[in-house]
Amino acid sequence: MSMIHGGSDSGPTPLHDFSTNANPLPAPASLSLALQQADRRRYPDPQYLSLRHHLAGAHGVDVARILPTSGGAEAIRRLSLAALLQGLREVWVPAPGFGDYAAAAQALGLTVQPYADVAQLLQGLTQQAMVWLCEPCNPTGASLGSAEIAAVAARAGLVVLDRAYEPLRLQGEAPAVPANCWQLHCPNKALGHTGVRAAYLIAPDDGALTQRLRGLAASWVLSAEGQVLLMQLHQPEIQAWLADSRTQLQLWTAQQRAMLGRLDWQQRESCTPFWLARPPQALPELRSHGIKLRDATSFGLPGWVRIAALPPQSQLALKERLQ
Ligand SMILES: Cc1ncc(COP(=O)(O)O)c(C=O)c1O
Repeated sequence: MSMIHGGSDSGPTPLHDFSTNANPLPAPASLSLALQQADRRRYPDPQYLSLRHHLAGAHGVDVARILPTSGGAEAIRRLSLAALLQGLREVWVPAPGFGDYAAAAQALGLTVQPYADVAQLLQGLTQQAMVWLCEPCNPTGASLGSAEIAAVAARAGLVVLDRAYEPLRLQGEAPAVPANCWQLHCPNKALGHTGVRAAYLIAPDDGALTQRLRGLAASWVLSAEGQVLLMQLHQPEIQAWLADSRTQLQLWTAQQRAMLGRLDWQQRESCTPFWLARPPQALPELRSHGIKLRDATSFGLPGWVRIAALPPQSQLALKERLQ
């Protein structure tokens, strides 16, 4: 199966890539240096003990609850397989939503149930169901309230909160995480290093499903540089850079939305630096001009694109091409 994703494709790197949700700001020198210095000559600790201690400390949870994964995509596959082995048969996915949830479920023969909103989700939920909540959601940039998430968590067999874009939330507060929820943290997007395949799960406890997840992991599931990226995430200078990034992205988002508004684009609300937008007419050829947008047809939204905020010079390039 070939998944459709924004960002890199088989062609040359776009000059102005509005199709990726990755932070476009240059990473701090300390992060680049740490990654360069990752020790690739030997295996990482197969238990990732110091990394897990570090992440457990940052989140205030027990070390046994931290599971490193080779990116969020790998975590989604592994959790879906573990859910199947635990006897769950149905997977509820946000629609529109990140395509890997449904792809992972389909590949395992699980029944996929798309949901448009929490009301629809609550109507159909049983203890046999696994639910993906994307918070804030890709591609919409929508966010649920704590009460809605708590209601879902009270009904489903397994709830996973994908927090890939939490560090890029530009408005509002992160909702509370119910005690029985799994959390997926994929910081490579906020850190502008999507080529580093590294993420981690926080399990609600060290129960049977957590042990199954651990048993299903390949040995050394996280590369040397993946380990470094996750170790860097909670460093004060990296968190300060993330805060500065959010301020900058707020400004670029406002500018870009205003520019598209003047060109009569329809634009949905979003709390992230990416959002769904619909041009007033078919788009001109952009890719050969070094500009890329994420066509939203695969999200069930033909005629729409997902667009991310980029610096003014990229906005100008897009504007000139659109005009
Ligand atoms: C919502 C969401 N979750 C998870 C992922 C997986 O990212 P990665 O495998 O790079 O951690 C993505 C990637 O686009 C995403 O958008």
